[in-house]
Amino acid sequence: MCGIVGYIGSKDCVDVLLDGLKELEYRGYDSAGIAVMNAEHISVCKVLGKISNLEKKVQTLDRSILKNAIGIGHTRWATHGKPSELNAHPHLGEFSYVVHNGIIENYKELKIDLEEKGHKFISQTDTEVIVHLFEEYYNLCNNTKEAFKKAISHLEGAFSVLLMSKVEPENIYFFKKGSPMVVAKGKVKNEVLFASTDAPLIGLAEDVVYLEDGVGGVARLGNIEFFSKDYTWSKLPTSKAYAQKDGYRFFMEKEIYEQSDVAGDCTLGRIHGEKIIFDELAKLDVDSIKEIKLCACGTSYHSALMASYLFERLAKIGVKVEIASEFRYKNPLLLKSTLFIAISQSGETADTLEALKMAKKAGLKTLVICNVDNSSMTRLADFCILTRAGIEKGVASTKAFCTQSLVLWMLSLYFAEIKKNISKEKLQDEISALREVPKTLLVKTKIHEKCRRLAKRYLHGHGFFFIGRDVFYPLALEGALKLKEISYLHAEGYPSGEMKHGPIALADKELFTIALMPKNMLYTKTKSNVEELSARDSTICAISPLEFDLADDFIKTDEKSHYMLEFFDILIVLQIFSLEVSIRLGNDVDMPRNLAKSVTVE
Ligand code: G6P
Repeated sequence: MCGIVGYIGSKDCVDVLLDGLKELEYRGYDSAGIAVMNAEHISVCKVLGKISNLEKKVQTLDRSILKNAIGIGHTRWATHGKPSELNAHPHLGEFSYVVHNGIIENYKELKIDLEEKGHKFISQTDTEVIVHLFEEYYNLCNNTKEAFKKAISHLEGAFSVLLMSKVEPENIYFFKKGSPMVVAKGKVKNEVLFASTDAPLIGLAEDVVYLEDGVGGVARLGNIEFFSKDYTWSKLPTSKAYAQKDGYRFFMEKEIYEQSDVAGDCTLGRIHGEKIIFDELAKLDVDSIKEIKLCACGTSYHSALMASYLFERLAKIGVKVEIASEFRYKNPLLLKSTLFIAISQSGETADTLEALKMAKKAGLKTLVICNVDNSSMTRLADFCILTRAGIEKGVASTKAFCTQSLVLWMLSLYFAEIKKNISKEKLQDEISALREVPKTLLVKTKIHEKCRRLAKRYLHGHGFFFIGRDVFYPLALEGALKLKEISYLHAEGYPSGEMKHGPIALADKELFTIALMPKNMLYTKTKSNVEELSARDSTICAISPLEFDLADDFIKTDEKSHYMLEFFDILIVLQIFSLEVSIRLGNDVDMPRNLAKSVTVE
């Protein structure tokens, strides 16, 4: 969580930092700040809220005194201490400045100790201890490098840190453990740049080091000194397709509409005639896999749950689905015959990353299904399948989920064929359906308009139940999550057949049931469950290709030949429904309150 940037070079430091922070804003937008210094002056600017507020506030800085300045910047997702200007980074000591991404788990003990030694704390954050710890050691040894190393050695938790100090106004100290950080040589001679991910560096730098855990150093103009030898230089792509809204009201809306295209990219080269091919898995011994563990968080967890139905049904491999934050602390049974699959849009989610490390350490074969190349997970796993959804800016995930589901469907068929658990005819049917996915994902104006009109009828009430069976149950969970994330309305996803075991007690007119009723998957069973809710007065919105006369509202989807095509068809409806409810409520669809796109704290 949080994004950090740093700059040493001849360009206007404030501008470079702001540009970098804008690229990282998806990582948190509770507050933002920068500290910029040269030998004579230091300017610190912090704001509550988004980078746009910071952009306005930096107008008040006197840039003429900040020639050849170096600087650090931060965009925050609050963990310790509520969002406020005071708790915004950079945090200051008497003569030093720090930005930090992660959590210092032992900050309370350190703080008590430092307060006893006379240090004055002004924020409620864990971060502030770093700067005081550094100054405490500096005052004892009068050596900046030693003081930085000592301070870091006392920190527990996950953190990446940038630190500047008035005693060495040309240097930025850096360290990485757990949370990601990239160091780069800029294209302009002697420049050094830092960022939480490589995205802000593309175009500005070609040579980068993705820091490994435990690696730190110090940089000045034209020089980067690493404290250990555990680093390697890599090349960055020279340009990137900047994500723009292209006339859509929100990135989320654009990303929903892009799904047809990215599904095409995702399947490209992976469907050959009547075969599924993953070149990425050429060296994976599929026959030795006895079980699969799928592990993820949030929306990615829903695609994992969906895949558990497909892997068992098609490939006949036993599957366990794990929420990463639970998996980490349950002392899981890890057998070497298990393939561990981590699923993550960002490749940086702290819990999923740690779970992946655990699996790898236990000797399991590991595979990551990820949207961001060169992320921590893609670099760590034995195998990697990229989902190719392109940059996803909206905090509520749409096209990443869509492509994850598509990859997992293809993967189940890939395993099924290698393990000889699927007939030729069945495989052909599945592949024919797969080829239809991009067309299915084209958004129909009629459906969008229907969702827009319905959105206004569903703004009151005491909650939503999204219900479905089989793969439509994880889809129901995803539909409910989308609505919660961006509309702040209470919504739950439930298996249709479970409603009678408790939740049906909530049924009345003010309980909205969004019923996922595909024709090709347990239609009659789901219909009976919806009838039970209707009989108890719940307001029903049915999504189905088949007319359903008990529905108070009805969204008619197209008839499809395969339930997975209905899965993608209904996915679009759920995404657009949430989008329209959120817009009607006047919410910031792309940056919903309290959330962040990439959660790098556990
Ligand atoms: C955050 C995001 C979610 C995402 C989850 C997992 O909570 O807001 O949209 O599903 O993290 O992220 P990952 O990048 O691992 O898929």
